[in-house]
Amino acid sequence: METNTNLDSTASAIDYADPHHPIDYEPSRLGYRVPDWKDTRKLYKAALVKDYSSARHTDKEGYWSREIADQEWEKLFARTWHMVGHLNDIPTENSFMKVDIGHESILVTRGEGDAIVAFYNVCQHRGTKLVLQDFGKTKKLVCPFHRWEFSNKGDLLKITDRETFRTKAICHDLNIPKVRVETWRGWVFVNMNPDAVPLAEYIGDELDTLLKAYDFERVVRIRDIVQEWPVNWKAAHEAFNEGYHVQATHPQLNPAVNAYHAQHDLYENGHGRSIYQFMTPTPHVADQLQPGLAEEHKIFLREAGVAEADFPAHWQDVPQAIINAKKANKDYPVDYSKFSEGQLIDDWGVGFFPSTETFLHPEGFFIQHWRPHPSGDPQKCIYQAQVYAIQGIKELPSFMAVENADMSGKTVLPRTWLADDDIDATGPVISQDRVLLPRLQSGMQSRGFKGGVFSDQEIRIRQFYDEYYQYMRGHK
Ligand code: FES
Ligand SMILES: [Fe+2]
Repeated sequence: METNTNLDSTASAIDYADPHHPIDYEPSRLGYRVPDWKDTRKLYKAALVKDYSSARHTDKEGYWSREIADQEWEKLFARTWHMVGHLNDIPTENSFMKVDIGHESILVTRGEGDAIVAFYNVCQHRGTKLVLQDFGKTKKLVCPFHRWEFSNKGDLLKITDRETFRTKAICHDLNIPKVRVETWRGWVFVNMNPDAVPLAEYIGDELDTLLKAYDFERVVRIRDIVQEWPVNWKAAHEAFNEGYHVQATHPQLNPAVNAYHAQHDLYENGHGRSIYQFMTPTPHVADQLQPGLAEEHKIFLREAGVAEADFPAHWQDVPQAIINAKKANKDYPVDYSKFSEGQLIDDWGVGFFPSTETFLHPEGFFIQHWRPHPSGDPQKCIYQAQVYAIQGIKELPSFMAVENADMSGKTVLPRTWLADDDIDATGPVISQDRVLLPRLQSGMQSRGFKGGVFSDQEIRIRQFYDEYYQYMRGHK
């Protein structure tokens, strides 16, 4: 079979795509007309639900000001729901997981059944952090400093040498303050605001309905990495809720990912969805492609179970071949008949405000978070990437960058804290973003930069700031 020599999957991290060709583009819509070779890849929503016309963002100090970072913490992070894991990460009674958000550390523990509790990871004697492990199982927590003991619900069990404390000193509530915790289809969310709206209301019915087909309840966590990035959390996050940069930053994806025609849908409370057409070239290169297959096409065909001998000759036929192979695979642990044809191949990027982006496929979910640095330094953030696979599947899409994973669900995977300079560890695509982001962080601070300008391909960034200022101005 002829290989397309125009396409170089090994392009280096800072190679850029060819200059653009004129492209037929329809502005002022949330989604763009896509080739209607499949109904399921047509627009779901043609009308603008809200005019996010302020495509200029002049408030650039928010990317490096310590004062703004402190306000963000109080007004935004401490008041919103954050996805922190899954019930299957704390699979049995007395399991716990530690969740770090900014300078806060929170323990989520499991009781009987699906009952879970969350509380701050802090001893009520003099403030020692109680637990350093990310995951574990215990009935009680013993502080290493003076051995006070707490139950795994956060209740005080024992004060060492209690008789040496004056009654007045210990007569008030010494149980550990709770954190709001709720689950949505197995996913665990926490909120430090005791008065927050319920999680179901925060997520909203529209998004909930849209995501019904995915088997969120049947997951096993197979990758979990954390890394410090030298960039503000918002700047990092923004590189993951727009597909505009894909043609330039990730040129190896151009034959196989059409981010230009991504459909971006915006939901209440700042959440959004982007549908990126996989196995369809971006229009920036489509007219330059030879009829053969790029390596990316072959990988996806193999993963869908198409035998090499049955590979189509032309890249145009790849999406249909993959869809057909998946639909024919009745023994697969995923019931593909629940999904639209588009969902069998395209990447659904679903973002939960403020700082979580998920990439959803029927076989598994790639979940990323960008959170403020524990030091409060606005020029750094903590990046976390997790991959959850559907229990029982043999192989995940390779772009999720998981190799040799234990898919059995029999063990609880540890979290890996990567060295900050281990750029390759995040996989070939993310490392391209990671290399570029510090350039953005330092360049933005120039007197010569007047603030961001956002296209309609970046409409979710505009939506983000619309919601962000609701919190920052105290309206939410
Ligand atoms: S600080 Fe925890 S027992 Fe003293
Ligand atoms: Fe990227």
